[in-house]
Order: sequence, then structure tokens, then C-alpha cells
Amino acid sequence: MFSVDVRSRLDSDVDQIDPDAWIDDQLPLLLEQNSLIASEGTQILGCRPLGIRVSKKSFTLIPLEREIKLEPGVSNASVIVDLDEISFSDLVQDIQTPQSLATSKVIDLPLKEHFRFLKWWPVIRAIIDGRSVHKPGEIDFLNQDGGSLDLNRSFTQEDSDEEISWFLSQTGYLHLKGWWSRELMAEISNDMDGAIEKYERGDGRSWWAKTEDGKDRCVRLQYFQSQSESVKRLLREGQHERIAAIPGDGHSIAWNGSNDENAIEALVKPIGVVEGISDLPWHKDCSLGRHSYDCSSITVGISVTGADSRSGQLAVVAGSHRANLQPNFIHPYLDLPIVNLPTETGDVTVHLSCTLHMSHPPTETERRVMYSSFVLPHKGKKIGADRISKVREEAYLKVSQAPSHNQD
Ligand SMILES: [Fe+2]
Repeated sequence: MFSVDVRSRLDSDVDQIDPDAWIDDQLPLLLEQNSLIASEGTQILGCRPLGIRVSKKSFTLIPLEREIKLEPGVSNASVIVDLDEISFSDLVQDIQTPQSLATSKVIDLPLKEHFRFLKWWPVIRAIIDGRSVHKPGEIDFLNQDGGSLDLNRSFTQEDSDEEISWFLSQTGYLHLKGWWSRELMAEISNDMDGAIEKYERGDGRSWWAKTEDGKDRCVRLQYFQSQSESVKRLLREGQHERIAAIPGDGHSIAWNGSNDENAIEALVKPIGVVEGISDLPWHKDCSLGRHSYDCSSITVGISVTGADSRSGQLAVVAGSHRANLQPNFIHPYLDLPIVNLPTETGDVTVHLSCTLHMSHPPTETERRVMYSSFVLPHKGKKIGADRISKVREEAYLKVSQAPSHNQD
């Protein structure tokens, strides 16, 4: 089997960073080690000088041709970011990201400066973690025999786990055909109809969106196993657990069988959303933080109804889980292929938490899908997970997706 476990940090190593000491002692050392790869990243991404103010300290990172210059103060910065000590400590240790701080409005930059800050994120990781920013041409896709891989390949239950595992490790996604029966999907769709009236805006168990016809629609039913015995059975079936075992990393559903955990979410994708979020634009699931502690977890999308170019479908960037790049955006330089994943009822899509993906808004027909995750084995408290979860759960109230007619 082919591992997708890329974790490089442990929660037991997390500390509250003292900004003064880190900026004076650690940052110059890190720049000495990683300045060259970081400056390559700034050239690729077109980064401008970044100023950071935290406590009474301030500094600017200035990209030069073969190095990053560290300067005290922010007078030469093109973008200045003000951070509190916890947010600074979170950024340094890869617990929160510029995107999570912006979504929670902890930082509230004008749009142009927000994008300038986002560009720095892969470079900041290069400085601190020594991980180079993705360069065009670096990633290829091979079969186990060394030939080129068909990125549109799908698998059935008859295919071998080894072959499926290889494809997942290369591409970061899977399309599993006919994984569940149409009858089971019809039962679950009925259960969704019955459950929707039991959810209400602000209940902490659902996301909502307004559509152009003026309706307030429940678009995400969380804790959905509590509403459907069929779903409870599905989560315990061998063919669901088979997916968790594919990389051989010990992934599990991390569900105790109760109704009190959010084991699976059922999504309705309406047409014409004008407020709130139903169809997420390009992102990695780790774009809100904790990449180096949790990646890669596995997200499974079960097509309760099929998905195509008219009903909205998942799209992924092949190989993006192997690349240090902006986790919320497709930069024009990115050379990795975008692959659409149309599905039929009962098919399953799989993507890694590090794989860039988005869901196209439906234009002609609504669709239904359920999402559940498998996580890597983990002991103890996940530092900052509560901060990230709060950002995710409040996102539909604070951010609206672009109207569907503006997206392709
Ligand atoms: Fe996602």
C-alpha cells in the first residue's frame, strides 16, 4: 500500500511562541537555512515585501533574487499584517493560516492586500519547514510500471486495493464506480427529505444559503447519521471501511457510534445561491490549518444523486497534495491538471485533505451528496482544532460564494 501520511509535527511539540525571542533568535536562523528556496517561491508567486506587527515588535520580509532579507520595522512593506500573539504563534506552528485568520476576521485586510498575504503562505512554510514552493514540471503521474497514468480512470469493487492505493498516492483523488446500490441511495434521499424540517438556521448542526428565488435553504445537514438508520448501517459496512484501509496508514472514521458526533454530513446543492455557501471554491481542506499535524485525512463523497456539468460536480487538481502551493487559489503558473469528477448515483469520490478541490455550482438540476472523513491515528488533544472548527462552522454566515452565473 502507498502511504498518504505526510505529517511532520506532533501536538506534543506545540508551544506558545514568544514573538520577541522567535523573531530575534529563530527567524534569522531559519532564513539562513531556507532563504534560497523561499526566494525561489517569492519569484514564482510574485510576492511583495511582507510586514508583520505583533506585540511591540515589527519586521519585514523582503524578497530578493537569491535570498529573503529580514528588516526591522514595516516602512518598506507592501502589505502589513497585524497579529495578536496567539495568531502569530498559530501561524508559525502551522496551526492556523492566513485564510483561517481572514475568514474569522481576526485579520481584515483590503482585498488586494489579502491576496498579497495569501501568496506568502507557501513561502512562509518554505522558510519555517524547509518545504520548497511547487515549481512547474516537478510533478508527474506514473503507473506502477512507469508508464503514464490515466487521470480519468475510475475503479470498481473488483479492482485491487493496491492499484487503487497507487492511484490515490499519485493523484490525491479517486472515483469509485457503483460502490453503493441505487436502492440504498433512494432510501437515503427519502431520509434527507424527512430530516430537513428538523434542522433550523442557527441550530449549530446545519449550513444555510439564500437562493435567487428568495428561499432560505438548508444546504448541509450535519450529524446526519442521527436522521437515518440506513446511513448508520452504511457507515459500518465493509465497503465503506475498505476505503479507509486503502493507503495502509491506519485511517479510521473516529466515530463512537452515537448521534452526538458529526460522523457524516448530507448536502443539498440548490441552483442560484446568492448568499451563504453551498458550493465551495478551490481549497485544500487543510487550508484552515493543521496541515503538518493531520494530513492527509481522507474525505469520501457519496453520490446520493449523480453529478455532472449541469448538476454541479466535484473538480480536483491532480497531484496538488504533493505540492506546496496556495491552498485557496489556482495561481496562473500552476501546471497541474484540473480533473472533473462526474458521478452516477451510488458512486463515491475520494479526495485527500491536501488535494485542491472545488464543487461547481449546479446550473440546471440540484444534486445530493454525503461527505464523511477518515482521519489518521492520533493521541491526545488537537491544539487549535477548536479555533479552526469555529472558523469552518461560521463561514457560511460570514462569507458568500460568487453567484453561480459568474462561475463555470
Ligand atoms: Fe473541501
